[in-house]
Amino acid sequence: MLVISGSASPKLSAKVASLLGAELVNAEVRRFPDGEIYVRVDAELRRKPVAIIQSTCPPQNDNLIELLLLLDAAKDLGAKRIIAVVPYLAYSRQDKQFKPGEAVSLRTVSKLISQSGAEELITVDIHQEETLGNFSIPAFNQTAMPLIGRYLRNLNLENPIIIGADQGSIKRATRVALELGAEHYFLEKRRISPENVIVYPKNLEVKGRDVVMVDDIVSTGGTIIGAAKILQEQGAREVYVACAHPVLAGNAAQRLKEAGIKQIIATDTIEKDVSVVSVAPLIAELIK
Ligand code: R5P
Repeated sequence: MLVISGSASPKLSAKVASLLGAELVNAEVRRFPDGEIYVRVDAELRRKPVAIIQSTCPPQNDNLIELLLLLDAAKDLGAKRIIAVVPYLAYSRQDKQFKPGEAVSLRTVSKLISQSGAEELITVDIHQEETLGNFSIPAFNQTAMPLIGRYLRNLNLENPIIIGADQGSIKRATRVALELGAEHYFLEKRRISPENVIVYPKNLEVKGRDVVMVDDIVSTGGTIIGAAKILQEQGAREVYVACAHPVLAGNAAQRLKEAGIKQIIATDTIEKDVSVVSVAPLIAELIK
Protein backbone atom coordinates (compact mmCIF):
# COMPACT_ATOMS: atom_id res chain seq x y z
CA MET A 1 0.00 0.00 0.00
CA LEU A 2 1.21 3.50 -0.87
CA VAL A 3 -0.25 6.68 0.54
CA ILE A 4 -0.21 9.67 -1.79
CA SER A 5 -0.57 12.99 -0.06
CA GLY A 6 -2.39 15.84 -1.75
CA SER A 7 -1.41 19.38 -0.79
CA ALA A 8 -4.45 19.90 1.49
CA SER A 9 -3.73 16.94 3.80
CA PRO A 10 0.04 16.58 4.37
CA LYS A 11 0.00 15.93 8.14
CA LEU A 12 -2.97 13.59 8.06
CA SER A 13 -1.45 11.63 5.15
CA ALA A 14 1.82 11.17 7.06
CA LYS A 15 -0.06 9.89 10.11
CA VAL A 16 -2.14 7.44 8.08
CA ALA A 17 0.94 6.15 6.24
CA SER A 18 2.74 5.65 9.52
CA LEU A 19 -0.23 3.76 11.07
CA LEU A 20 -0.41 1.51 7.99
CA GLY A 21 3.35 1.09 7.71
CA ALA A 22 2.91 2.30 4.12
CA GLU A 23 5.22 4.28 1.89
CA LEU A 24 4.30 7.99 1.78
CA VAL A 25 4.53 9.81 -1.54
CA ASN A 26 4.17 13.58 -1.59
CA ALA A 27 2.71 14.55 -4.94
CA GLU A 28 4.33 17.42 -6.76
CA VAL A 29 1.75 20.16 -7.09
CA ARG A 30 2.51 23.43 -8.84
CA ARG A 31 0.67 26.20 -10.59
CA PHE A 32 1.00 27.44 -14.11
CA PRO A 33 1.25 31.21 -14.48
CA ASP A 34 -2.44 31.39 -15.43
CA GLY A 35 -3.49 29.63 -12.22
CA GLU A 36 -4.07 26.14 -13.62
CA ILE A 37 -2.81 23.27 -11.47
CA TYR A 38 0.03 20.90 -12.40
CA VAL A 39 0.27 17.55 -10.64
CA ARG A 40 2.90 14.82 -10.87
CA VAL A 41 3.19 11.58 -8.93
CA ASP A 42 6.80 10.51 -9.12
CA ALA A 43 6.53 6.92 -7.89
CA GLU A 44 6.24 3.36 -9.14
CA LEU A 45 2.56 2.48 -8.69
CA ARG A 46 2.14 -0.39 -11.16
CA ARG A 47 -0.09 -3.10 -9.62
CA LYS A 48 0.15 -1.46 -6.17
CA PRO A 49 -2.84 -0.44 -4.05
CA VAL A 50 -2.82 3.29 -3.33
CA ALA A 51 -4.74 5.65 -1.07
CA ILE A 52 -4.84 9.26 -2.21
CA ILE A 53 -5.56 11.57 0.72
CA GLN A 54 -6.81 15.02 -0.20
CA SER A 55 -9.30 17.13 1.71
CA THR A 56 -11.54 19.34 -0.43
CA CYS A 57 -11.55 22.16 2.09
CA PRO A 58 -11.28 25.80 0.95
CA PRO A 59 -10.14 26.60 -1.67
CA GLN A 60 -12.58 23.80 -2.52
CA ASN A 61 -12.42 24.06 -6.29
CA ASP A 62 -8.61 23.95 -6.42
CA ASN A 63 -8.41 21.10 -3.95
CA LEU A 64 -11.08 19.16 -5.81
CA ILE A 65 -9.34 19.57 -9.17
CA GLU A 66 -6.06 18.52 -7.56
CA LEU A 67 -7.76 15.39 -6.23
CA LEU A 68 -9.18 14.53 -9.66
CA LEU A 69 -5.76 15.05 -11.30
CA LEU A 70 -4.09 12.84 -8.67
CA LEU A 71 -6.63 10.07 -9.21
CA ASP A 72 -6.15 10.21 -12.97
CA ALA A 73 -2.36 10.23 -12.66
CA ALA A 74 -2.46 7.19 -10.34
CA LYS A 75 -4.68 5.36 -12.81
CA ASP A 76 -2.27 6.16 -15.66
CA LEU A 77 0.59 4.78 -13.59
CA GLY A 78 -1.21 1.45 -13.34
CA ALA A 79 -2.16 1.44 -9.63
CA LYS A 80 -4.13 -1.69 -8.71
CA ARG A 81 -6.73 -0.40 -6.26
CA ILE A 82 -7.19 3.35 -5.94
CA ILE A 83 -8.89 4.62 -2.81
CA ALA A 84 -9.89 8.29 -2.75
CA VAL A 85 -9.69 9.45 0.86
CA VAL A 86 -11.53 12.76 1.05
CA PRO A 87 -11.68 13.57 4.77
CA TYR A 88 -13.82 16.66 4.17
CA LEU A 89 -16.06 16.30 1.15
CA ALA A 90 -16.91 19.71 -0.27
CA TYR A 91 -20.32 20.43 -1.77
CA SER A 92 -21.96 17.72 0.32
CA ARG A 93 -24.54 20.04 1.88
CA GLN A 94 -26.32 20.66 -1.43
CA ASP A 95 -27.51 17.07 -1.59
CA LYS A 96 -30.93 17.78 -3.09
CA GLN A 97 -32.82 20.48 -4.98
CA PHE A 98 -34.30 22.95 -2.53
CA LYS A 99 -35.56 25.08 -5.46
CA PRO A 100 -36.21 23.96 -9.06
CA GLY A 101 -33.22 24.38 -11.32
CA GLU A 102 -30.59 24.09 -8.62
CA ALA A 103 -27.57 21.91 -9.34
CA VAL A 104 -27.28 19.04 -6.86
CA SER A 105 -23.59 19.66 -6.32
CA LEU A 106 -22.95 16.56 -4.22
CA ARG A 107 -24.14 14.43 -7.14
CA THR A 108 -21.85 16.28 -9.57
CA VAL A 109 -18.83 15.89 -7.27
CA SER A 110 -19.64 12.20 -6.74
CA LYS A 111 -19.66 11.64 -10.51
CA LEU A 112 -16.36 13.46 -10.97
CA ILE A 113 -14.60 11.43 -8.26
CA SER A 114 -16.10 8.13 -9.37
CA GLN A 115 -15.11 8.74 -13.00
CA SER A 116 -11.57 9.97 -12.38
CA GLY A 117 -10.14 6.62 -11.42
CA ALA A 118 -11.24 6.14 -7.81
CA GLU A 119 -12.37 2.60 -7.08
CA GLU A 120 -13.45 3.33 -3.50
CA LEU A 121 -14.19 6.44 -1.50
CA ILE A 122 -13.55 7.05 2.17
CA THR A 123 -14.80 10.15 3.93
CA VAL A 124 -15.45 11.39 7.46
CA ASP A 125 -18.67 12.81 8.91
CA ILE A 126 -20.34 13.45 5.58
CA HIS A 127 -23.27 15.83 6.10
CA GLN A 128 -25.89 13.09 5.49
CA GLU A 129 -24.69 9.50 5.38
CA GLU A 130 -27.53 8.38 3.05
CA THR A 131 -26.12 10.58 0.28
CA LEU A 132 -23.16 8.22 -0.17
CA GLY A 133 -25.53 6.39 -2.53
CA ASN A 134 -24.71 9.08 -5.12
CA PHE A 135 -21.32 7.42 -5.69
CA SER A 136 -21.17 4.69 -8.30
CA ILE A 137 -18.23 3.14 -6.41
CA PRO A 138 -18.21 1.68 -2.88
CA ALA A 139 -18.24 4.67 -0.52
CA PHE A 140 -17.61 4.60 3.23
CA ASN A 141 -18.14 7.17 5.94
CA GLN A 142 -16.79 7.13 9.48
CA THR A 143 -17.70 9.47 12.31
CA ALA A 144 -15.10 11.27 14.41
CA MET A 145 -17.58 12.00 17.20
CA PRO A 146 -16.43 9.25 19.61
CA LEU A 147 -12.84 10.51 19.23
CA ILE A 148 -14.02 14.03 19.99
CA GLY A 149 -15.90 12.71 23.04
CA ARG A 150 -12.71 11.08 24.30
CA TYR A 151 -10.82 14.35 23.86
CA LEU A 152 -13.50 16.17 25.85
CA ARG A 153 -13.14 13.71 28.73
CA ASN A 154 -9.69 15.14 29.41
CA LEU A 155 -10.98 18.70 29.70
CA ASN A 156 -12.66 17.98 33.06
CA LEU A 157 -15.78 19.86 32.08
CA GLU A 158 -18.17 21.07 34.77
CA ASN A 159 -21.33 18.91 34.72
CA PRO A 160 -21.24 18.94 30.89
CA ILE A 161 -24.25 19.03 28.61
CA ILE A 162 -23.91 18.23 24.91
CA ILE A 163 -26.10 20.13 22.49
CA GLY A 164 -26.57 19.38 18.81
CA ALA A 165 -26.52 22.64 16.90
CA ASP A 166 -29.61 21.62 14.92
CA GLN A 167 -31.79 18.58 14.25
CA GLY A 168 -29.22 17.23 11.79
CA SER A 169 -26.69 16.99 14.60
CA ILE A 170 -28.73 14.81 16.97
CA LYS A 171 -26.84 11.62 16.06
CA ARG A 172 -23.48 13.35 16.35
CA ALA A 173 -24.34 14.89 19.72
CA THR A 174 -25.48 11.46 20.93
CA ARG A 175 -22.16 9.85 19.97
CA VAL A 176 -20.19 12.54 21.81
CA ALA A 177 -22.46 12.36 24.86
CA LEU A 178 -22.15 8.57 25.06
CA GLU A 179 -18.37 8.84 25.38
CA LEU A 180 -18.73 11.40 28.15
CA GLY A 181 -21.69 9.82 29.91
CA ALA A 182 -23.38 13.24 29.59
CA GLU A 183 -26.90 14.41 28.76
CA HIS A 184 -27.60 15.59 25.24
CA TYR A 185 -30.21 17.71 23.49
CA PHE A 186 -30.57 19.53 20.21
CA LEU A 187 -31.70 22.97 19.10
CA GLU A 188 -33.74 24.06 16.12
CA LYS A 189 -32.61 26.71 13.70
CA ARG A 190 -33.65 28.55 10.57
CA ARG A 191 -31.09 30.09 8.23
CA ILE A 192 -32.18 33.50 6.96
CA SER A 193 -29.01 34.31 4.98
CA PRO A 194 -25.65 32.56 4.49
CA GLU A 195 -24.26 34.16 7.67
CA ASN A 196 -27.37 34.69 9.77
CA VAL A 197 -29.22 32.01 11.57
CA ILE A 198 -32.15 32.14 13.97
CA VAL A 199 -31.83 29.59 16.75
CA TYR A 200 -34.99 28.93 18.74
CA PRO A 201 -34.56 28.90 22.53
CA LYS A 202 -35.38 25.79 24.52
CA ASN A 203 -35.62 25.50 28.28
CA LEU A 204 -32.49 23.52 28.96
CA GLU A 205 -30.85 23.16 32.38
CA VAL A 206 -27.55 24.83 31.51
CA LYS A 207 -27.08 27.16 34.49
CA GLY A 208 -23.55 26.83 35.88
CA ARG A 209 -22.73 23.99 33.46
CA ASP A 210 -20.22 23.66 30.64
CA VAL A 211 -22.00 23.31 27.31
CA VAL A 212 -20.51 21.64 24.24
CA MET A 213 -22.21 22.57 20.97
CA VAL A 214 -21.76 19.80 18.39
CA ASP A 215 -21.98 20.17 14.61
CA ASP A 216 -20.47 18.49 11.57
CA ILE A 217 -19.20 21.72 9.99
CA VAL A 218 -18.49 25.15 11.38
CA SER A 219 -18.36 27.47 8.40
CA THR A 220 -19.41 31.09 9.03
CA GLY A 221 -20.01 30.30 12.70
CA GLY A 222 -23.56 31.69 12.37
CA THR A 223 -25.23 28.55 13.77
CA ILE A 224 -22.95 28.37 16.79
CA ILE A 225 -23.00 32.09 17.54
CA GLY A 226 -26.82 32.13 17.48
CA ALA A 227 -27.01 29.18 19.85
CA ALA A 228 -24.21 30.34 22.14
CA LYS A 229 -25.99 33.63 22.79
CA ILE A 230 -29.08 31.83 24.05
CA LEU A 231 -27.10 29.39 26.18
CA GLN A 232 -25.05 32.18 27.73
CA GLU A 233 -28.23 34.11 28.55
CA GLN A 234 -29.56 30.95 30.21
CA GLY A 235 -26.50 30.92 32.49
CA ALA A 236 -24.10 28.42 30.85
CA ARG A 237 -20.68 28.49 32.54
CA GLU A 238 -18.60 28.07 29.36
CA VAL A 239 -19.62 27.25 25.79
CA TYR A 240 -17.33 24.97 23.75
CA VAL A 241 -17.70 24.03 20.10
CA ALA A 242 -16.91 20.56 18.79
CA CYS A 243 -17.01 19.80 15.09
CA ALA A 244 -15.52 17.42 12.58
CA HIS A 245 -14.75 20.02 9.92
CA PRO A 246 -13.36 23.44 10.88
CA VAL A 247 -14.08 25.24 7.61
CA LEU A 248 -14.04 28.57 9.52
CA ALA A 249 -14.74 30.73 6.49
CA GLY A 250 -13.48 34.32 6.50
CA ASN A 251 -13.24 35.72 10.02
CA ALA A 252 -15.39 33.01 11.61
CA ALA A 253 -12.73 32.06 14.19
CA GLN A 254 -12.55 35.68 15.36
CA ARG A 255 -16.34 35.99 15.46
CA LEU A 256 -16.59 32.86 17.57
CA LYS A 257 -13.97 34.20 19.95
CA GLU A 258 -15.83 37.51 20.25
CA ALA A 259 -19.03 35.56 20.93
CA GLY A 260 -17.32 34.14 24.02
CA ILE A 261 -16.66 30.60 22.78
CA LYS A 262 -14.12 29.05 25.15
CA GLN A 263 -12.52 26.62 22.67
CA ILE A 264 -13.13 25.16 19.23
CA ILE A 265 -12.36 21.44 19.17
CA ALA A 266 -12.04 20.05 15.66
CA THR A 267 -10.39 17.30 13.69
CA ASP A 268 -7.70 17.27 11.03
CA THR A 269 -10.09 16.56 8.16
CA ILE A 270 -9.14 20.20 7.60
CA GLU A 271 -5.69 20.99 8.96
CA LYS A 272 -6.02 24.08 11.17
CA ASP A 273 -4.79 25.30 14.60
CA VAL A 274 -8.00 23.99 16.16
CA SER A 275 -7.50 20.46 14.73
CA VAL A 276 -6.70 18.79 18.05
CA VAL A 277 -8.25 15.40 17.23
CA SER A 278 -6.80 13.26 14.45
CA VAL A 279 -8.99 11.09 12.26
CA ALA A 280 -5.93 9.13 11.07
CA PRO A 281 -6.86 5.98 13.08
CA LEU A 282 -10.36 5.97 11.56
CA ILE A 283 -9.00 6.28 8.03
CA ALA A 284 -6.24 3.71 8.55
CA GLU A 285 -8.83 1.25 9.90
CA LEU A 286 -11.13 1.78 6.89
CA ILE A 287 -8.25 1.38 4.43
CA LYS A 288 -7.25 -1.91 6.09
C1 R5P B 1 -25.76 22.57 8.19
O1 R5P B 1 -26.83 21.99 8.28
C2 R5P B 1 -24.51 22.07 8.85
O2 R5P B 1 -24.75 20.92 9.60
C3 R5P B 1 -23.91 23.13 9.74
O3 R5P B 1 -24.80 23.43 10.80
C4 R5P B 1 -23.61 24.37 8.97
O4 R5P B 1 -22.87 24.08 7.84
C5 R5P B 1 -22.86 25.39 9.82
O5 R5P B 1 -22.63 26.51 9.03
P1 R5P B 1 -22.37 27.93 9.67
O6 R5P B 1 -21.16 27.81 10.55
O7 R5P B 1 -22.15 28.81 8.48
O8 R5P B 1 -23.61 28.32 10.44
